[in-house]
Amino acid sequence: MPDINTVNRPDEWKIEQGLSGAVLPVLDMTGPETKALAPQTFGPLTKDEDAIKSVGDRDALFKAERKGWKGFVEWENHPDKKAAAHKILTSQTFPPNPEYQLGPIPATNPVLPGTHWKMWHHAVGGELTQIPEDSWDTVLREKHPDMLHLLQFPYNGEPPKRLVTDKVITPNSLHFVRNHGGIPMIDKEDYSFTLDGLVQNPRSFTLDDLMDESKFPRMEKTVTMQCSGTRRIEQITKYAGQGDEVPQAPWAEGAIGTANYVGVSLKKVVKACGGLIDGAKHLEFDGADTYFKDDEVMNYLVSVPWSKVKANEVLLAWEMNGETLPRIHGYPLRIVVLGYIGARSVKWLYRVKAIREPSRAPVQSKEYLYFPQQVGKHNLKMTDGIQIQEMPVSSAITSPWTKQVVIHNGRIRCKGWAYSGGGRWPERVELSTDGGFNWYTIPLESLSRKRKWTWRTWEFDLPCDVEGWIEIVCRCRDNALNTQPPDVRTAWNWGLHVTS
Ligand code: MTE
Repeated sequence: MPDINTVNRPDEWKIEQGLSGAVLPVLDMTGPETKALAPQTFGPLTKDEDAIKSVGDRDALFKAERKGWKGFVEWENHPDKKAAAHKILTSQTFPPNPEYQLGPIPATNPVLPGTHWKMWHHAVGGELTQIPEDSWDTVLREKHPDMLHLLQFPYNGEPPKRLVTDKVITPNSLHFVRNHGGIPMIDKEDYSFTLDGLVQNPRSFTLDDLMDESKFPRMEKTVTMQCSGTRRIEQITKYAGQGDEVPQAPWAEGAIGTANYVGVSLKKVVKACGGLIDGAKHLEFDGADTYFKDDEVMNYLVSVPWSKVKANEVLLAWEMNGETLPRIHGYPLRIVVLGYIGARSVKWLYRVKAIREPSRAPVQSKEYLYFPQQVGKHNLKMTDGIQIQEMPVSSAITSPWTKQVVIHNGRIRCKGWAYSGGGRWPERVELSTDGGFNWYTIPLESLSRKRKWTWRTWEFDLPCDVEGWIEIVCRCRDNALNTQPPDVRTAWNWGLHVTS
């Protein structure tokens, strides 16, 4: 066949249909004429060796700080160290984040390797050098071989749909993991955390201190933890390119899990410090991992209001489902906040600080925000966002799958979960085979037990007389009669959070 004489790109058809938007020119319509700007491209990577050398010996600058704490650098009280790491990071270039909202998501497991995150760690060096490798070894040791690894480093993974609701209590190896940084390797014997800030008598606590039942009564709670990004993939695939290019977490139905945690109430520990002083109203939690954001390094810091702690709804936990807390879930000690998004349940806790206002740290003040629909990348003001704390009521189908062919005798076996944040619980779960016109209520005996802080899993033989394409949808009403929006679009927001 003779060559076709065309100026079209080979995949012109695909590009025009919006299946490969990342290569489209940007249209600048701010002037009288529309101008087509070339899409952003990145040149070869550069490195200013002299500038990096001038920072000093990285192994000495970012050396091990505490005996038995591998991979921990405390950044928060050390502006000098932060500045040194910033200089290292800005004296060279790294590959850009993959923009897969506009292009295809790789069909691999791990889906994404996190190349630039690994490079940042290696570039800073010192205690961070080995972290990417240690973290992946931990994944392979502690997690189920069937986990879907969304991001290799920092590790983000969820169980495949068939295992998400297989058990009402999620086995530790199958509980989803959401990490912003690497996993610090902390020895239990050398572990302690500090409680300071606006408390009467600041002090440190070891695990033995907390485990002393004559001082702190044990607290045991079964808790569903949900990442606010659960089911973000629906927003990504339906409205590609419209949300935050959060490249690390294309979560599906599996970024939720339920476990039984043992520990003590943080309220009692604050009391052991003589209580709060000087108008303290929030507690900030510091995690020992290192998070990179906009060429800055930091520890993982968030806060919750004192009222939440005072209600005995914040736990310091060392046990998960009858086992020592796994390293990947925060060993030796983590926070578990009942009924709040997972982001507040800080792992590898090294400090609790009583403060007056919610934490100004980036994870609290710039992430996990819910923006109104009209806010996008270019007119984003952090103060327009609402800090996400309690997840809205939600439910999800884990079987059958989208576009799966089912041969049936008038009933389709469906499985899934339902959950509501803030201590509300699913009262009713309904299913429809016609996109939400006619609904069947799942009988209560087909839902798992009702508990204040947990999901309810369900299984139901859904009547269906139709042959052809059907649209199975579910919805939940919680005990406050909240229910879900009718479609994904209604819940769309820039950060692609709280898909319900
Ligand atoms: N704590 C630290 N120190 N670092 C983190 O990256 N991620 C948070 C939270 N605690 C995180 C953390 C987020 S966003 C979630 S959803 C939960 O941990 C997930 O807990 P899991 O990994 O044990 O399931």
